[in-house]
Amino acid sequence: MGTTILGTGVYLPESVLTNYDLEKMVDTSDEWITTRTGIKERRIAKKESLVLMALKASEEALRRSGVGPEEIDTLVVATLTPEKRFPSTGCFLQSKLGASKAYAFDISAACSGFLFALEVADGLLKSGKAKKILVVGAEKLSEAVDWEDRSTCVLFGDGAGAVILSYEEGESDILASRMYSDGNLWDILYADNCGFIKMKGRELFKVAVRNMEEVCREVLSMAGVSPREVDLVVPHQANVRIINALAERLGIDREKFFVNIHKYGNTSAASIPIALHEAIEEGKLKRGDLVLMTAMGGGLTWGATLLRF
Ligand code: UT7
Repeated sequence: MGTTILGTGVYLPESVLTNYDLEKMVDTSDEWITTRTGIKERRIAKKESLVLMALKASEEALRRSGVGPEEIDTLVVATLTPEKRFPSTGCFLQSKLGASKAYAFDISAACSGFLFALEVADGLLKSGKAKKILVVGAEKLSEAVDWEDRSTCVLFGDGAGAVILSYEEGESDILASRMYSDGNLWDILYADNCGFIKMKGRELFKVAVRNMEEVCREVLSMAGVSPREVDLVVPHQANVRIINALAERLGIDREKFFVNIHKYGNTSAASIPIALHEAIEEGKLKRGDLVLMTAMGGGLTWGATLLRF
């Protein structure tokens, strides 16, 4: 028996904003953005609300899982761009989805939000307090960036990813996980009084590589798994150079790192569930595989989760 991902879903807004479009908006270049971050384009929610993106991703995840909305008993949304200050985005999603038997809430852990939500869900399933959980990472970061600030506006994008979790017979399980936060470092990445993202990029880069390496090693050692045995790494998509550095430090073949940052930029809490879904779709993640997920975000928050898919 173990915590099992029954199915996944995503929603990505139709509107694409390329690096060339950004060249016309701020003093930047496709060359700078590509070489410093790996991003080529991102999606921008023009017509879509946060709840609509979360809804579409959730509907797909339910369909692929063969689970009805009324079977969901717990609904968790990880986001740093909630629909309203309150009620939670989870409650709006519950209503649209018709998940009438679920209790719903949000998790605020910035880019680590999806892994923090998985951590809570895994605990609820293993304690028997929940049977079927919907976990969503959804972000409308286009509303949280100052479009005149080139140091941040080129980095982020919008989207949503969802997973349905259940405690099932079989070998699938979350084998080990560890989450961290350090509130002393809050001012490296935060929202200012206007709600816009402020970031000390260079500082964050170093902390991100170091902390994700450490927590990945810790989680692998908790499970008694060597880096070589990992089949796929699904890292938070913040910067391709962070991913390259992590691969090198962990001694895991870079080919095993799933990367889609070139298409979507940094979608914060949505980045891991979107990447997970695409990895499955592309045949890069199969049942029985060992997948290591890791994230770093505002808070600061960070963590890693080792899953037998
Ligand atoms: O999701 C949470 C986790 N997020 C992260 O971990 C992000 C971590 N940080 C990063 O990914 C990188 O630090 C950035 C991509 C944010 C920035 O890359 P960098 O190589 O650290 O650049 P930098 O901030 O040191 O800036 C280098 C130069 C500066 O000019 P000077 O001072 O050298 O003359 C910036 O003003 O690049 C300039 N610059 C830009 N130039 C063109 C900054 N933004 C831009 C831009 N276009 N968009």
